[in-house]
Amino acid sequence: MKSIHSFGQRRTQATAPKFADLHTHVLPGVDDGAPDLEAALRTLQELFDDGVSAVAATPHLNASNLNGTRRARADQAWPALEARVREAIPKLELYRGYEIQLDTPELDLDDPGLRLAGSRFALVEFYAFSIPERSADALARIVSGGYVPILVHPERYWGYDRSFAVMPEWRAAGALIQVNGGSLLGEYGVHVRAIAHHFLRAGKVDLIASDNHARPNRNPSLRAVWDYLSGQGFEEQARLLLATNPRRILRDEMPLSVGRFESRGWLKRLGRALQRGR
Ligand SMILES: [Fe+2]
Repeated sequence: MKSIHSFGQRRTQATAPKFADLHTHVLPGVDDGAPDLEAALRTLQELFDDGVSAVAATPHLNASNLNGTRRARADQAWPALEARVREAIPKLELYRGYEIQLDTPELDLDDPGLRLAGSRFALVEFYAFSIPERSADALARIVSGGYVPILVHPERYWGYDRSFAVMPEWRAAGALIQVNGGSLLGEYGVHVRAIAHHFLRAGKVDLIASDNHARPNRNPSLRAVWDYLSGQGFEEQARLLLATNPRRILRDEMPLSVGRFESRGWLKRLGRALQRGR
């Protein structure tokens, strides 16, 4: 006999959207991601089998060195990966982009190859997981150039004040916010998980990505995030964060507002989940 729980899981699987993952390190031999083409293909096949139908390969790049050897390695690695994916996983859409570290506050994004699928959007992160002075100004400068920075995994930064006052500054500057799925599930520890949940509850997150590095210890799936959020009754928000919004970005359209996670039950469940993780 089926329990209510298993019935609920079946319903969730039946209604899961096709996910789009805009932050991965699957381009082989470029950074600390996929070590070789076989690892990249294996990972992409796993992601596809898990319901991800669009992936952006976004290797690391520094704003101070946009056209150095890493960029050259990425250009060199791309054709072979694209060809093998087209042959082996033809229904998987594969796009290019970069995760650009703002080791200098000036970032010129006029080169479309630096942006996600040539759209107005680009993944950016602050230097060394810390929040620099006047961080919102650096994001505003990118916006004034006509582009939209997507600040990746802010839940992993240190240096917040108790009210996270800088987050509304980033959003007011025109930045979008991407949280790592693994952060919500506790893969970076309870502190990062608590911050990720706080941002999500407060409606500050525009999309969720995997930050998959195609290595055994860094190989997360968006399906687990879908199961987690939809299992808690946040199917609508999960659909926006994991499918609708990343796909809009690939089409060069602004993402839709996800809004606050309004639910007293959510707070209680979060408290219980955090306690279980200790
Ligand atoms: Fe990354």
